[in-house]
Amino acid sequence: MIITNINKAVDLLLNQKIVALFQDYSEWGPRALGNRSLLFDPRNVKAKEIVNKIKQREWWRPFAGTILLEHVHDWFDIGSLKESPYMSFAVLAKNKAKKEEKILKKTRDSNVAWLNDQWIYNEIIPYVNQANKDSGWNFQWDVSETCQFTKYRLNQYYHWHCDSFHSPYNTPNDLTKHGRIRKLSVTVSLSDPKEYKGGELQFDFYNEKRKKNIVTCKEILEKGSLVVFPSFVWHQVKPVTKGTRYSLVIWNLGSQFR
Ligand SMILES: [Fe+2]
Repeated sequence: MIITNINKAVDLLLNQKIVALFQDYSEWGPRALGNRSLLFDPRNVKAKEIVNKIKQREWWRPFAGTILLEHVHDWFDIGSLKESPYMSFAVLAKNKAKKEEKILKKTRDSNVAWLNDQWIYNEIIPYVNQANKDSGWNFQWDVSETCQFTKYRLNQYYHWHCDSFHSPYNTPNDLTKHGRIRKLSVTVSLSDPKEYKGGELQFDFYNEKRKKNIVTCKEILEKGSLVVFPSFVWHQVKPVTKGTRYSLVIWNLGSQFR
């Protein structure tokens, strides 16, 4: 797919797609980064592996996230350098960046179990189909993954993430998943809101100006309620501050979006 609209490119990046950028002069000598580049969301903890795989590079090859010049001193110790636009220097990350990296690496802290009981699907899937239709998404999907039962105890959380991966499952030994991608996520509340505090489910419906638009999902609070959402929407479960929060998630798969 060839696109020329920057907003569409940002959409693709936010949906964990790789964008190949081609503009102006070709590269020679100091790298003309941004002229012939592969772009990917550096917040994805597997960004390096994903991009290196596409570029067919070894695991140890360098990988650089770009940062706005006005923020560079917040995150990197660049010594006497004023800037580093050509990926020519290895510089040290400041403690703040290292702390952030640790947090990003630990995206999730919760306990999970897997359930395959047919009655669970029978109860939940009709709502997935209804939401898919009523919302107008009309995503084609045909397979549900194993249900994930999740327990969030005190201070446990699931940091910002999206459920879908950048490419379809490559699982030749599991043909139900092979070649499919997560399209519709459904989460079910299994706890009464009086049983815990914190643990809010939040979505980031970023607006057309690419600003964050974080919405706390109140519809999921009541025990037994459920929310269906496109698997590419970023979301988080905030840390539980009291009690224990139980929930169930099912991801529903179909062929890749066109
Ligand atoms: Fe999720």
